[in-house]
Amino acid sequence: VCASAKTGSAVIQEKGVSEFDSGLSRLESLSQVSGVLGCQWGDEGKGKLVDILAKHFDIVARCQGGANAGHTIYNSEGKKFALHLVPSGILNEDTVCVIGNGVVVHLPGFFKEIESLESNGVSCQGRILVSDRAHLLFDFHQEIDGLREAELAKSFIGTTRRGIGPCYSSKVIRNGIRVSDLRHMDTFPQKLDLLLSDAASRFQGFNYGPDMVRQEVERYKRFAEKLEPFITDTVHFMNDAVSQKKKILVEGGQATMLDIDFGTYPFVTSSSPSAGGISTGLGIAPRVVGDLIGVVKAYTTRVGSGPFPTEILGKGGDLLRFAGQEFGTTTGRPRRCGWLDIVALKYCCQINGFSSLNLTKLDVLSDLPEIQLGVSYKQIDGTPIQSFPADLRVLEQIKVEYEVMPGWLCDISSIRKYSELPKAARQYVERIEELVGVPVHYIGIGPGRDALIYK
Ligand code: GTP
Repeated sequence: VCASAKTGSAVIQEKGVSEFDSGLSRLESLSQVSGVLGCQWGDEGKGKLVDILAKHFDIVARCQGGANAGHTIYNSEGKKFALHLVPSGILNEDTVCVIGNGVVVHLPGFFKEIESLESNGVSCQGRILVSDRAHLLFDFHQEIDGLREAELAKSFIGTTRRGIGPCYSSKVIRNGIRVSDLRHMDTFPQKLDLLLSDAASRFQGFNYGPDMVRQEVERYKRFAEKLEPFITDTVHFMNDAVSQKKKILVEGGQATMLDIDFGTYPFVTSSSPSAGGISTGLGIAPRVVGDLIGVVKAYTTRVGSGPFPTEILGKGGDLLRFAGQEFGTTTGRPRRCGWLDIVALKYCCQINGFSSLNLTKLDVLSDLPEIQLGVSYKQIDGTPIQSFPADLRVLEQIKVEYEVMPGWLCDISSIRKYSELPKAARQYVERIEELVGVPVHYIGIGPGRDALIYK
């Protein structure tokens, strides 16, 4: 541990205040409806913060995405849980978890996740509510996700092949099947047949026959019975909770740079992981949403294809990948790694209006003698670019300008007070705050629940 740690404790004693206690009171004073959203291309470590915050909230709700979110969290005994669809609040036994109307639900996966949680001693009964308006994601959506990627050949998106995009497509072209349709098994086969015939007419490689429909209907009859205790009018539930002054935490999946509108289209997800998605995905008014915390890694990673201006290719990227264990929770795919991109982060802060940031994985940078911050973009001819460009051609050609900062070259993972961090680490954090104009209130220095510094 760094030498500066001693100096830090002395400072605290002088101040006569505990930074940790003031951090905790900050958690308690978060607004009635708060949210945790990703600031980069996903995998920022949102799950850990949600899990920590959950005990200060009555409800944790997901508003978008599906089982493509891969949150990894550790309980107080250090047991690892990989969650995909179930909100990260589930490990906190007093929290009710809501899967909102904006989420797409793959029932086989949902029940598998519940079985795994229950077999690890986490009780789910009565604690998970699934919106009757949420759309059902079928196995065939996953199949056509793969077919579509194959069709795109070299310009494939790099999706998780979980069928998320095809399911949202069904929703938008209005032949999707919703959770409430499970209550009408008389019309369900017809709806499923329509959905499948549409897919078959679109994808040559996709075939289905009457047997497949029959089997799927039988399977979904069983799912319908099993799901019944979870099905809820979550719009009513959420608005009731708002009126009763219950505390609600919204857990974002993916991140703004993958947003269908604001991300690096078309290399994006099919939902709205930014602030706007909270209202459309839960049916609560924008004015009730208060504090939003943006989660940002101390560097950048991205899975799949698409522009990544500050990417580090070769050995440098490998170093970060192994130090940060940057391999997907859901797919195991290696993540592309690079320096923190301040231009993208500022853009993300504008869109979401974050009240604070959680800088995660600062510990991963501990072995680097120098750290770079991508602070501005220039066009190939040297013209400065004022904001994050929509045009992928511009993005592919931009020149990133970096600020080089000294590293701290020591283990910071056991430090719990901001003032005990080495000077270079504090300088790095404070430079980020200065550049983006949003305070960093939480700093991650390890994967565990307790590995968080309150600033
Ligand atoms: P998505 O919704 O898929 O974007 O997931 P996520 O944002 O919750 O991130 P995910 O859990 O997939 O990845 C974060 C990984 O980093 C997990 O393995 C966490 O345990 C780990 N992690 C989180 N915070 C820290 C940290 O501060 N330091 C270190 N070393 N690991 C961390």
